[in-house]
Amino acid sequence: MKAILCTHWGTPDDLELADIPVPQAGPGEALVRVKAAALNFFDTLIIAGKYQHKPPFPFSPAGEFAGVVESVGAGVADFAPGDPVMGYSGWGAAREYVAVPAQQLVKLPDGLSFERAAGLTVTYGTTLYALRVRAELKPGETLVALGASGGTGLATIELGKVMGAKVIACASSAEKLDFARAHGADEVVNYATEDLRDALRKLGGEHGIDVVYDPVGGAYAEPAVRSLAWQGRYLVVGFAAGDIPKLPLNLVLLKSCDIRGVFWGAWTKREPHAQHALMSEIVNWCAQGKLSAHVHAVYPLPDIANALKAIASRQVMGKVVLRL
Ligand SMILES: NC(=O)c1ccc[n+]([C@@H]2O[C@H](COP(=O)([O-])OP(=O)(O)OC[C@H]3O[C@@H](n4cnc5c(N)ncnc54)[C@H](OP(=O)(O)O)[C@@H]3O)[C@@H](O)[C@H]2O)c1
Repeated sequence: MKAILCTHWGTPDDLELADIPVPQAGPGEALVRVKAAALNFFDTLIIAGKYQHKPPFPFSPAGEFAGVVESVGAGVADFAPGDPVMGYSGWGAAREYVAVPAQQLVKLPDGLSFERAAGLTVTYGTTLYALRVRAELKPGETLVALGASGGTGLATIELGKVMGAKVIACASSAEKLDFARAHGADEVVNYATEDLRDALRKLGGEHGIDVVYDPVGGAYAEPAVRSLAWQGRYLVVGFAAGDIPKLPLNLVLLKSCDIRGVFWGAWTKREPHAQHALMSEIVNWCAQGKLSAHVHAVYPLPDIANALKAIASRQVMGKVVLRL
């Protein structure tokens, strides 16, 4: 089978297209013929050796996929050959076949394409876990999404609206903010041209912002925390800007606010049943048209380097997908 391999830490141009044997489904596993694999910002880090997980060489990037079950191993009763499925594997999906624990798969409903389904798990899974479990977001609360046109940012806008929040989308260009509005944002802030603190003070009013979802970090973190309401919650999701911010803790005291960490991947291992239930909800909302799972661009598998470069250069709105 064709596979993209990372054989040493490096750049997207160091990845290789190789021919390797098709794996077999072990006990409890399903072998899936991958039709589409989605990339995330963390794929730009994992191939450089800069991510929290450092898989043994050689490995394939792409942590999520959609396709068709080819065969199942001993003890698998919930899936059968021919079932359309999506799944999460952390890495390893940029190849024609993957063998994964069947409990990591979710069946696809009618009307959800492989390309949209491939990119649903990481961004929407992380964000529903973040907003519901970590932030305890309530209807009517004000939610700020930073990096709002990116993968997790778009999921924040759409899930925030499903959960009844007022959503303020923050991003770096007029085009990205138009995209955010088209996907449901109530208000927008261009943090490349406006002062984030001033803009959020205006939009949050006297009460302030209830929840900030931050996958960007860098210089935006402190003004975002300063904009929080009494007992507001700031979600630490990621550091796409590169710098890990440091915060003055007096702000936390003065606002009686919370800084809450979000580590979705670890949560899925600790609470696999809760994660599975959450993904079923997301898939159904997507099939009902409540979530867009917007695909920015589809690249053929051998063109993975250009797909990763588009993510790293901040060009993407929604998801980037590989077609197999
Ligand atoms: N904690 C978790 O469990 C978890 C789960 C999934 C992802 N993450 C993390 O969340 C972060 C975002 O992931 P994502 O998939 O949403 O990424 P993405 O689609 O690439 O979006 C990231 C956004 O960050 C902004 N950004 C600011 N500075 C940037 C820079 N120097 N390079 C690239 N983007 C920059 C961009 O928006 P503007 O141009 O509008 O600023 C971009 O749209 C990553 O760090 C990822 O590892 C964490």
